[in-house]
Amino acid sequence: MFEEIKENFDFLKMRPAGTKGPASSQWLATQKLFFEDQIRFFKIMKGRYGDTYWYRLANIPFYAIHDPEVIETLLLKNNANLKKDVITHSLDDLLGIGLLTNEGESWKKQRKLASPSLSPKQIRSYATTMTDYTRDAVSTWKDGQVIHTQKEMMALTLRIVMKTLLGIDQLDIAKEAGKAIDDTMESFAKEHHTAWTMVPKFVNAPHRKTFQASIQILDKIIYDVINTRRKEDGDSDDLLNRFMISKDEDGNAMSDKQLRDEAITMFLAGHETTALSITYMLLLLAKNPDTLRRAQTEIDEIIGEEIPNMEHTKELIYLEAFANEAMRLYPPAWLIAREITDDFDIDGITYKKGHQVGIPICAIHHDSRWYKNPLKFNPSRWLDGSLDNNPRFAFIPFGGGARLCIGKHFAMMEMLLVVSTILQKYSVKDVTKDELVLEPAITLRPITPIHLELTARS
Ligand code: HEM
Repeated sequence: MFEEIKENFDFLKMRPAGTKGPASSQWLATQKLFFEDQIRFFKIMKGRYGDTYWYRLANIPFYAIHDPEVIETLLLKNNANLKKDVITHSLDDLLGIGLLTNEGESWKKQRKLASPSLSPKQIRSYATTMTDYTRDAVSTWKDGQVIHTQKEMMALTLRIVMKTLLGIDQLDIAKEAGKAIDDTMESFAKEHHTAWTMVPKFVNAPHRKTFQASIQILDKIIYDVINTRRKEDGDSDDLLNRFMISKDEDGNAMSDKQLRDEAITMFLAGHETTALSITYMLLLLAKNPDTLRRAQTEIDEIIGEEIPNMEHTKELIYLEAFANEAMRLYPPAWLIAREITDDFDIDGITYKKGHQVGIPICAIHHDSRWYKNPLKFNPSRWLDGSLDNNPRFAFIPFGGGARLCIGKHFAMMEMLLVVSTILQKYSVKDVTKDELVLEPAITLRPITPIHLELTARS
């Protein structure tokens, strides 16, 4: 008991030289602020301590960095002294050693194997699945109907990812996988973004059991597909097949376990993030009728009544600016983090081995140094040259450096294709009763339903 208290006391005193941040005496108040509203926490801390500060979250020592130039130096020059953070690694049970959690040489090898399959040239063939499934969903909607937007978009992006990733077209399996992913995410958020963080792992809480049970469901779905593929030896055009036939320099293919880990990783990384970004785009269109008109005019001129395809998306200049502004305001990945594996210095601050570094993307995207009236939604800022002199890392919805999102092109294409397919047929109006409340868990999720009313376009 005495040892534990002493250890905690010493830990409170472990602040690295030269760093600002809350004093040890403010530890409890800091935890409370963090767990109440994490985005507000980062904004308040930056106001008090500047661009880089250090604090202790539960028993984890953390640096936070807001300066885009320092973030660039960190992610580009110091990548060799970093690995993924403790919270990301607590997904190891679920993700195994997929791209998101893998490290070092093994990560490099897997990234090289996976990259060609997600290049702009290769993902072209997925455009048809994206528009087919969106048209399917749209065909079930009626004039005047009110949709629960995030539910609709989660179901749609799940169907798209199941088909483009695993070649699975059965709705019942997509639903089962969707429920299992939702359950893992909810359990994970409870475990790591609430005071449960401090409860010893041997306590067998219901959300911890749900987490393990959901992993088993996902494993079964994915191993079944892999086994069938191995027997069939077919050549379907999905990501899993491309992973199965890809070989490294020594001629080795991925094992079943590696395939399973990469597939679950892509599911998790690619499904909810994209659904959220589309949901926020639709909400912002609905709240800003002038931007909705401008987006629809562009779609009418470039796509008309044709089925949207990848070539069209390259010409949707306004809709792309709109997507960027939506991800600036509501970045689905609102925080990324790393653990330091070796000491290094940037701008006179020593980043110490074993400590974590947080990059609060949402707070950076709302920084008035880079964005005038940062909380105002203004897609035109991406077109009028006002952001031309911004540092490169002032806008990082997909992260940056070596571990930049591998699905960036896939996601951008999906966002533009899904939204333009919807806007060809319908206009949207916000009829949500509750104020928008966002929960920054692994992703930045709306807590309450976003209700949009559809009006059929004549
Ligand atoms: C709007 C949608 C998306 C957003 C906002 C997003 C965001 C991000 C971010 C910020 C990272 C970097 C994490 C870090 O540095 O710690 C990342 C990594 C990753 N993303 Fe995405 N992502 C999106 C869509 C997708 C899609 C569609 C896929 C797959 C098809 C995908 C697969 C991945 C993978 C595998 C990684 C890990 C890459 C690595 O470390 O090598 N993402 N994503």
